[in-house]
Amino acid sequence: MFKQPENKQIQEQTQILVLDDEPSIRWVMDRTLSQGGYIPRLAADAPEARQLLKNHSIRLAFVDINLPGQDGLSFTREMLKKYPSLLTIVMTGESTMYTTVEAMKSGVFDYLPKPFNIEEIEELVRRALRVPLKIKGSAGTKSEKPDDDLLTGQSKAMRELYKSIGRVAATDLTVLIQGESGTGKELIARSIHRHSLRSSQAFVAINCAAIPSELMESELFGHEKGAFTGATERKHGKLELASQGTLFLDEIGDMPMNLQSKLLRVLQEKQFERLGGKELITTDMRIIAATHQNLFHLIQNSQFRTDLYYRLNVFPINIAPLRERKEDIPVLVEHFLQKGSKEMAVGRKVVEPEAMKVLTNYEWPGNIRELENTVKSLMITNVTGTITLDSLPKNLLTPECLSDSTESLEEVAFGKLEQPVKNAVELNSNLLLAEVISQVERPLISLLLQQTNWNQQRTARILGINRNTLRKKIKTLGLK
Ligand SMILES: Nc1ncnc2c1ncn2[C@@H]1O[C@H](COP(=O)(O)OP(=O)(O)OP(=O)(O)O)[C@@H](O)[C@H]1O
Ligand SMILES: [Mg+2]
Repeated sequence: MFKQPENKQIQEQTQILVLDDEPSIRWVMDRTLSQGGYIPRLAADAPEARQLLKNHSIRLAFVDINLPGQDGLSFTREMLKKYPSLLTIVMTGESTMYTTVEAMKSGVFDYLPKPFNIEEIEELVRRALRVPLKIKGSAGTKSEKPDDDLLTGQSKAMRELYKSIGRVAATDLTVLIQGESGTGKELIARSIHRHSLRSSQAFVAINCAAIPSELMESELFGHEKGAFTGATERKHGKLELASQGTLFLDEIGDMPMNLQSKLLRVLQEKQFERLGGKELITTDMRIIAATHQNLFHLIQNSQFRTDLYYRLNVFPINIAPLRERKEDIPVLVEHFLQKGSKEMAVGRKVVEPEAMKVLTNYEWPGNIRELENTVKSLMITNVTGTITLDSLPKNLLTPECLSDSTESLEEVAFGKLEQPVKNAVELNSNLLLAEVISQVERPLISLLLQQTNWNQQRTARILGINRNTLRKKIKTLGLK
């Protein structure tokens, strides 16, 4: 629950609009906000909300996006135009990348997927009311709603990502996307372009890791006829093709040093020449760069220019590896099943729960790309319509993936620790360490052996003891 307001006078005056057609949401918000010392103003539809905004001085509004007969987002845009200093938080039960990005582009304060808990509301209100009163411009343009969302996933990391895309899309800021292989860097770049003011212009990608370095310069800058042997025609480079649109410099970490300087010049001067040409070409492109490499390491090894790094890293986006957002896995699997059945014209498939558990437990070193390929090949080989545990690739069927417990070693150890520590404190024992170790040792070693498939060498290494010591321990503890 809300803590008692520190500055009662200010908070008593704060009126908060809640626009939601769902009575239970209005009820919860009513209670939560009143208990916090605010004045809730409740509306079930847009006309009612308009009236409330007209008659009261409302500082903050919670707006449901999916209102019957009205698009909550367009209503939000309308309100923001009329009341530029109103802070809005949009809520939705069908949270998708599209709605999040569009909402953030409209200049809303934040985006709240349902179901939410009361603590989240409290935190949001507190955060919103810390924003000084000011006149905010309403940002963005509305982009065409795509048939399907490009990016899928509802983990916290993905929701933050959608917000970042929404914040940066309509600006011309240079974006640097960093993340492991297969995490969706290119898809993010495309989404930014698609939601930008340049969406009707070209999205031009160049993969610096895939093009031999001697060809890359002419790929980027283009060349005049006769510029070098084999240059039989004038060729427009990617810089020219992207001129009004977005240039995606993929795997920028692989760009050769000499080209990095040339690129830097273009970024600074917004002008360049084709190879073998004299004409100065002006460009107005937006740059998005991506890499799976650690650019700091490259800078330390003199493989990447510091000045170029700062030029590119204006708006950084870091995308988490899939293993750090496992709750996205079932959603992604479902997404790829649907996509696969359209693309490959195979019937709908379902994944049995046991198999889904393994897919979710697996660490996916190749991230979403690996997951997508796995789902596709499962769909092709599957005839029954149900993807079962034993149809999964063997490399997925490790003890870790098959185990029910996703409890970490640390959690196991701490669980075991609590009681001996309590006992020792109670008994004033000075044998605490020995007692704790004896309690923790057995489950720890046994769990590690299970997880390494009884690989004693690996287990010993993880424990930081030698193999003989481990053998002795296995014997004295009677582990089998
Ligand atoms: N959030 C997501 N939702 C749906 N599909 C995704 C998502 N992220 C990635 N994908 C899919 O996974 C594959 C890999 O994505 P992408 O090529 O964008 O990743 P990347 O980070 O550029 O990978 P690489 O480092 O291998 O170039 C693509 O087929 C893409 O469509
Ligand atoms: Mg890529």
